[in-house]
Amino acid sequence: MGAFLRFFGISTDDNRVDQATGLTEKQKKLVHNTWAVIRKDEVGSGVAVMSAFLTKYPEYQQYFEPFKDIPVTELPANKRFQAHCAGIIAALNTVIDSLHDPGLMEASLISLAERHKKRGQKKEEFQNLKEVIMEVLRQALGKQFTPEVAEAWSKTLEAAFSKIYQVVTV
Ligand code: HEM
Repeated sequence: MGAFLRFFGISTDDNRVDQATGLTEKQKKLVHNTWAVIRKDEVGSGVAVMSAFLTKYPEYQQYFEPFKDIPVTELPANKRFQAHCAGIIAALNTVIDSLHDPGLMEASLISLAERHKKRGQKKEEFQNLKEVIMEVLRQALGKQFTPEVAEAWSKTLEAAFSKIYQVVTV
């Protein structure tokens, strides 16, 4: 049966759903392949996410001691801001790289969430960032952001943020 399906370009493995993440192998591949585009430019991609986030929610800028008083339009050129932005993409690299190992993915998200909870970050703020990340992916990937890719990313972010919400509950 497997060989029969593969003959038609359908791999049974590709359609297998990983119970821990809700993603099929094919969806994981789509996420890996499209993330490769984003991670190529850690600073640029991180700046795109954080600039969109702070433009939409200017009240959050005060949380960021290293660049809280810099006008938002000047942030992209600010090295402290760029360093923070690259750090966010690096943290997301770890998450995406561990999609094949849900236990490892969970462990890195739990410690990220614990560090943020200690600083007082709220669930709503994470939820708002999740939506901004999705929007930045849509813009950065352009034509590559097909409905299939969108679905794969939506599930990935859902799985990742649900781990964060086990720690950041309010
Ligand atoms: C998936 C989502 C997020 C990722 C991957 C992420 C990543 C990071 C990383 C890697 C750091 C530096 C190391 C650390 O202390 O953990 C950091 C710091 C920080 N994050 Fe996040 N973060 C996320 C969500 C958020 C949200 C939603 C907020 C609040 C609006 C936030 C606010 C902060 C603040 C205030 C710091 C400390 C900045 C400083 O003073 O240098 N983060 N984040």
